[in-house]
Amino acid sequence: MLELGAGCGVGTAWLASGLQTETTTRLVTIDHDQTLAATVSALFSDWSAVTVLTGDWRQALSQGPFQLIFVDVSEAKNAGVDDVVGTLTEGGMVMIDDLTPVELWPEEWRGKPDPVRDAWLNYPDLASSEVRVASDHAMIVGTKIAPPNAESS
Ligand SMILES: C[S@@+](CC[C@H](N)C(=O)[O-])C[C@H]1O[C@@H](n2cnc3c(N)ncnc32)[C@H](O)[C@@H]1O
Repeated sequence: MLELGAGCGVGTAWLASGLQTETTTRLVTIDHDQTLAATVSALFSDWSAVTVLTGDWRQALSQGPFQLIFVDVSEAKNAGVDDVVGTLTEGGMVMIDDLTPVELWPEEWRGKPDPVRDAWLNYPDLASSEVRVASDHAMIVGTKIAPPNAESS
């Protein structure tokens, strides 16, 4: 599993709580803020399955492929779909949260492009949906699918 944007380690803790200790599942998280990365690294120092990296989110992709990626860096949400999906295994899942449901958009957002929804809901190698997780909060969940078979199309 990969988390882009470790922050203070809250998401890392949720993801780590799902690790099955009897398997070889690993969780990698990264943040470019050295203080945050060091803090999260200290928090998880007893967890051998958790690796905390300091640096730009793209540096973590070389640790893949991953079966689950939580994209929580703004730049990666807005412009990272090719790189992120490129490091997902087939059948692997991607999650993008912190979306405002469309009906709650302020007037100034309406009629303007929504690069995050456009990218992640329409990407050819992803089967993805927007999921409402609270009255004022939505996320996108996607699964990497096999590219269409040229012979059968
Ligand atoms: C929304 S917070 C992450 C919160 C965390 N995932 C959680 O759920 O608790 C976004 C984080 O991305 C980090 N960040 C922003 N740009 C980045 C970049 N280019 N590379 C790596 N981390 C970045 C910020 O320092 C910030 O800590």
